[in-house]
Amino acid sequence: MRVYLDNAATTPLDPEVVSAMTDVLSNCFGNPSAQHAIGRNAKGVMEMARRKIAELINAKPSEILFTSGGTEADNIVIRSAVNDLGIKHIITSPIEHHAVLSTVEEMHHKGVAEMHLVSINDKGEIDLAHLEQLTSQYPGSLISLMHANNEIGTLLDLKKVSAIAKKYNCLFHSDTVQTIGHYKIDVEELGLDFLVCSAHKFNGPKGSGFLFVKNTHKLRPIITGGGQEKNMRAGTENLHGIVGLAKALEISHSIMPEKQQKLQALKSLMRTLIAAEIPGVGFNGVQEDDKSLYTVLNVSLPPNPAGDMLLFKLDIEGVCASGGSACSSGASKGSHVLAAIHHPDERTGVRFSFGKFTTEEDIRFAVEKLRKVVTE
Ligand SMILES: Cc1ncc(COP(=O)(O)O)c(C=O)c1O
Repeated sequence: MRVYLDNAATTPLDPEVVSAMTDVLSNCFGNPSAQHAIGRNAKGVMEMARRKIAELINAKPSEILFTSGGTEADNIVIRSAVNDLGIKHIITSPIEHHAVLSTVEEMHHKGVAEMHLVSINDKGEIDLAHLEQLTSQYPGSLISLMHANNEIGTLLDLKKVSAIAKKYNCLFHSDTVQTIGHYKIDVEELGLDFLVCSAHKFNGPKGSGFLFVKNTHKLRPIITGGGQEKNMRAGTENLHGIVGLAKALEISHSIMPEKQQKLQALKSLMRTLIAAEIPGVGFNGVQEDDKSLYTVLNVSLPPNPAGDMLLFKLDIEGVCASGGSACSSGASKGSHVLAAIHHPDERTGVRFSFGKFTTEEDIRFAVEKLRKVVTE
């Protein structure tokens, strides 16, 4: 038996998505920029996907920019905000995904924009009072804070941050890669300037995602050489990926309440079973249901015989998970998130993450194997 509990890394494709994509691959090969009938047909298919996505997040179709996924979308926002929108200060957190953190660090080291890190607590929650202090000190900044942390699942209240952003005339970018497709997101209601999405986190294809850019902002491309995507992203569009993305998002929205209920229950079950089976265990990140991603459970294991080989041993036992140690000592590998929340180096953090195909049997199997590798 093999159990896949690494859905925050990527998810298996939904068969309906595969079928929609195969249809495009077989029957719709045109270049959406071409003027003839075959090209116009491809363009029509692409624009239908854009409309569907826009509708699902309450945006305008013209505010959806197709990208190769979350990393590219994060890069576009940060680089373009500095290059084209006059941003001189970026406020972010130490637990952002590297797509954000490395890009902001690069801007900082080049001296084109200053990076300011907002404080977090040991559960990965943003200190909103500190955020307000930074924004009042640096009005007109770009705020880049993720909606849910991909390693520990802690959620951010986007509305509160967007209120602070408005008060100090800041732009607000949120990396919503781990929440789009799992929660209903309304860009209008949340007051976001930019958000990013990656299809492979909700049973869509890899290499396909989008960036929401509020209509009032005009970004120049970071990859040049074509007028696609309203001159904001050059290159022939990945049509089958775009169609797969739209289909996956549509399906995710149609099953969202049931999926949330099911996965929340599986997450609680896993936490209860692990707490009962493994003495000295803890859980990283906020544990209240409404403040934590229901697809992620990050377990903090006490020092154990498996040590650094824990994930490898779990894999041999048939369980796919991810994680590691904090490595705040500066070793090349290790989690910057666990280091930032002061997870002790001698403990191991294991992330189990759930998707719509996860079953109770998977959870029970994984807990039994975890108990085995930690105690034997
Ligand atoms: C929070 C977050 N941002 C960005 C990314 C990168 O997305 P992509 O794989 O589409 O480049 C990931 C993927 O792991 C993620 O979890």
